[in-house]
Amino acid sequence: MARKLETVANGDFTPTVVVKNFIGGEEREAKAGERFESVSASHRVDVVGSVPLSSAADVEEACRVAGAAAASWAATPAPVRGAIIGRIGEAIVQYKELLSRVVCREIGKSMRESRGEVQEAIDTAHFFQAEGRRLYGQTVNSEMPNKELFTYRRPLGVAAMITAGNFPMAVPSWKILPALLCGNTVVWKPSEDAPVIAYLFGRIMEDARVPAGVLNIVHGSGAGGAGAAVLECVDKGLIQKVSFTGSTEVGRKVGEVCGRNLQIPSLELGGKNPLVVLRDADLDVAVEGALFSGYGTAGQRCTSLGNLILDKPIAAEFKKRLLARISEIQIGDVTQGEDMLYGPMINERFGNNFLKHLDMGKEDGATLLTTQHGRITNENKPANFVGDADAGFYVFPTLWDGVTADMKLAQTEVFGPVITVMEVDGIDEAIEAANCAPYGLSSACYTMNPTHILKFKNGIRAGMTSINNTTNGAEAHLPFGGCGWSGNGTRESGVWVIDAYTRWHAVNEDLAGKLQLAQIDVDFGDTHEPTDMSALD
Ligand code: UN1
Repeated sequence: MARKLETVANGDFTPTVVVKNFIGGEEREAKAGERFESVSASHRVDVVGSVPLSSAADVEEACRVAGAAAASWAATPAPVRGAIIGRIGEAIVQYKELLSRVVCREIGKSMRESRGEVQEAIDTAHFFQAEGRRLYGQTVNSEMPNKELFTYRRPLGVAAMITAGNFPMAVPSWKILPALLCGNTVVWKPSEDAPVIAYLFGRIMEDARVPAGVLNIVHGSGAGGAGAAVLECVDKGLIQKVSFTGSTEVGRKVGEVCGRNLQIPSLELGGKNPLVVLRDADLDVAVEGALFSGYGTAGQRCTSLGNLILDKPIAAEFKKRLLARISEIQIGDVTQGEDMLYGPMINERFGNNFLKHLDMGKEDGATLLTTQHGRITNENKPANFVGDADAGFYVFPTLWDGVTADMKLAQTEVFGPVITVMEVDGIDEAIEAANCAPYGLSSACYTMNPTHILKFKNGIRAGMTSINNTTNGAEAHLPFGGCGWSGNGTRESGVWVIDAYTRWHAVNEDLAGKLQLAQIDVDFGDTHEPTDMSALD
């Protein structure tokens, strides 16, 4: 019999979901009995979920339960684990529209993008279902006879995931599904901005018959709360792998704790992603690419456009066209229609942090090209704004001009809808400008010139590069991750993520019936008289 979700009435809105922790195959309250509310980013009066506020004791229990389940899950054949991942994928397909609506309602992502987000989780499930039938090791030739060498991928143990609110379904799926497929057990601390979508995703995984204790979900806050408790559990030896998506600042802390425990965490951090438009680009395509890269998702992607680098001959025309498009976009309550480019900031803290860049730009001496700035309110909103602007934290799209590489504005990640324009003369200066910030996540270059494409691909310092496309749009079977301040070189997605959730185990099997030592007892056939070629001298 299908298990109903527990809900409570929520005024005129869709009911509030009563979220539970999920530990050892059971739904649980936080031990201290505390709860917090997850409100819709678009209507703060709409309580999407009532959520357990977990403490260190809850996290520790989840880690111990996950540890106890690790051996039997690791011993489950990989194709069987893959079949479970496949069932998760099928269920997400079945609930795609519903889940997309929850993403849209909870974090204020447009329906179009919310569907894309859920699709990314489906793609990931499909990819890893099949990986259960591969997860290849190698057979390797030995130096000696009657001896065989093999490599095996072994799971790491308990993998803890700490995820952000801007991709509440896609990014957790990038981590959880391959970690499970590789035979690890999981403790997931989802973002406090998106606990309901996490809870529903957890229910789907439970329905797919992930065994008890293999997947555990603990809700709560980050710093000082459940997130910090995860790091304490690393120090206690209860966690063998951490995967974190979030800010560079927090990523450094995660890296420090994991480093002193001799673990390699997966860190997917911030970005100041450049998009270059060269003089030979298709400007119409490039304007649309810049518009979505900068303002889509209200700029709340780690892959969002930061520095727009324009080649001088087309700079004025490009800015004119981009400003014209900015004046046309629709912003507003994404739960009320499908035409909005973007909705609210995910939470008030993101909104207030975004606003700080206005002072930063003024101090830098940059010039604002857009005319309205800061917070959108019912008194001060774009003409075509949809919905009640005061019900969420909405902000105007911002375009800065006259930005140079030494400015704070060019160097600092600003999470939100802002683009900073730098002008350059030709491909070489463009690459230099594109590499000016300490981050290196994504990048894009618009050009029709194959030589420039080659130069850009070779010269850019980034984990991802688009030619004639946006700075976003990573696909589920490509490696995702950055360099510099954007991460520690680990990758998510595709076959590359498997390295993050397994360790290589080298095995030699000796059937010689006598002791034979590598390097020492090897017959390389080198007792040989060389040919005397002196007759030809
Ligand atoms: C993120 O913002 O953390 O390429 C991930 C993209 C998305 C993933 C973004 N597929 O923008």
